[in-house]
Amino acid sequence: MQRDICRILSNHKVTGNIYKMVIESRIISKKALPGQFIHIKPGDGYDPLLRRPISICDLDADNSQVTLLYRVCGKGTRLFTHTKTGDFLDVLGPLGNGFPIFHSKRVAIIGGGIGIAPLLYLSKELIEAEVYLGFRDETYMIEDFMKYSDNISIYTEDGSKGNKGYPIEALERNIRSYDVVYACGPKIMLRAVKNLCEENHIECYISMEERMGCGIGACLVCACESSSNEEYKKVCTDGPVFNSKEVNLDD
Ligand SMILES: Cc1cc2nc3c(=O)[nH]c(=O)nc-3n(C[C@H](O)[C@H](O)[C@H](O)COP(=O)(O)OP(=O)(O)OC[C@H]3O[C@@H](n4cnc5c(N)ncnc54)[C@H](O)[C@@H]3O)c2cc1C
Ligand code: FES
Repeated sequence: MQRDICRILSNHKVTGNIYKMVIESRIISKKALPGQFIHIKPGDGYDPLLRRPISICDLDADNSQVTLLYRVCGKGTRLFTHTKTGDFLDVLGPLGNGFPIFHSKRVAIIGGGIGIAPLLYLSKELIEAEVYLGFRDETYMIEDFMKYSDNISIYTEDGSKGNKGYPIEALERNIRSYDVVYACGPKIMLRAVKNLCEENHIECYISMEERMGCGIGACLVCACESSSNEEYKKVCTDGPVFNSKEVNLDD
């Protein structure tokens, strides 16, 4: 883990409360794996005090560029929107473990909402993944995913773009075609993917979201329940990516 002061190369609204930021970091762009995250100091002062975790969405190692996709939902992410091209961002990373990459297996990726963020870099690394993406209404980053996969299914809850419904419905129909499924998104979706994969004996990796403090394994703020019910896992250092069998997603 390293601290880096990164120059912001661009930061703009994609749609609604979704923003895309590109930062310059030689260290992160050379080292980060799909599924890893960075821990960003939201402003110059002490409010908010804690850094905010944001996934690596894409990388361009040749040009030292790291792409982030973020949804504005509170003080920290709102402060991100105030930063402009040429400003600097105080970043720790890359942090966490990342998704295991299997090139010789049949793989599916499923993402919901802002949970699609770490899946773009993953689909780039997997090359031939089939991708299922779900959104409430507005879709985003579809063209970016199309650069890395020829097989993308889009779902919106209201049917305004792509198919009406949820991507899990399509994954369920095709589940027997895959050896491995990767997922990131709302907990309700992760739980459904975990259950579907485990019932069909398909290997499944999920990226978990918990509130974070330190981001480096020292504070336990990010603890989540392990499937053994006897111990907790730290999302920041044991994850954020877990084999679905390792974690308990029941309420
Ligand atoms: C490993 C990891 C990777 C992430 N990657 C991304 C990403 O790529 N893009 C992105 O937009 N967001 C991502 N997040 C979520 C992001 O970190 C939070 O949305 C952000 O920290 C909220 O900060 P805030 O100050 O804007 O909101 P706050 O004011 O802190 O909170 C606003 C609301 O969001 C809820 N909230 C805050 N943090 C979380 C969380 N971690 N999980 C669930 N609910 C939360 C709060 O309970 C509150 O209701 C990631 C989280 C983790 C743990
Ligand atoms: S955020 Fe501190 S231990 Fe995970």
